[in-house]
Amino acid sequence: MTVGLRIALGCDHGGFPLKQRIASVIQSAGQIVVDCGTDSSCSVDYPDFALKVGQTILAGEADRGILLCGSGVGISVAANKIPGIRAGVCHDIYSAHQGVEHDDMNVLCLGARIIGEEVAVELVRAFINAQFTHEERHVRRLNKVLEIERDALAGKFAK
Ligand code: RB5
Repeated sequence: MTVGLRIALGCDHGGFPLKQRIASVIQSAGQIVVDCGTDSSCSVDYPDFALKVGQTILAGEADRGILLCGSGVGISVAANKIPGIRAGVCHDIYSAHQGVEHDDMNVLCLGARIIGEEVAVELVRAFINAQFTHEERHVRRLNKVLEIERDALAGKFAK
């Protein structure tokens, strides 16, 4: 298991009830939490925290991220708008590690209103213990994803 992985952890009010437990799990696994808020159950906007986590990763201040909202959906949609971020909502253990192993997913998104705390803990462990395999077919597919991203940024899909 890799230790010393820096995990940017962010959530909105919907994800906040899970945040402290997830932070403890990350630390117990020998990893480092980079806290990106929110810090209470007051209503906030999930894109702000997706952006904070994404920017933290892109700035090299974290290696991966975990985002929590009510369903996991809104915050993953927002995170995936940031070039360089590959976020997935994973509510099953297989996807939580396979998304890293095959797709180089760098942000795990969880819905605190959908899954129980113990399932969330297992998902986080599966995510942080997984590594991209660098197998040829996965690198080839990842490169195609990155090409789509580059083309979009270059305005190739604009009408
Ligand atoms: C907030 O009420 C809720 O909409 C948000 O946490 C998330 O579920 C959006 O996808």
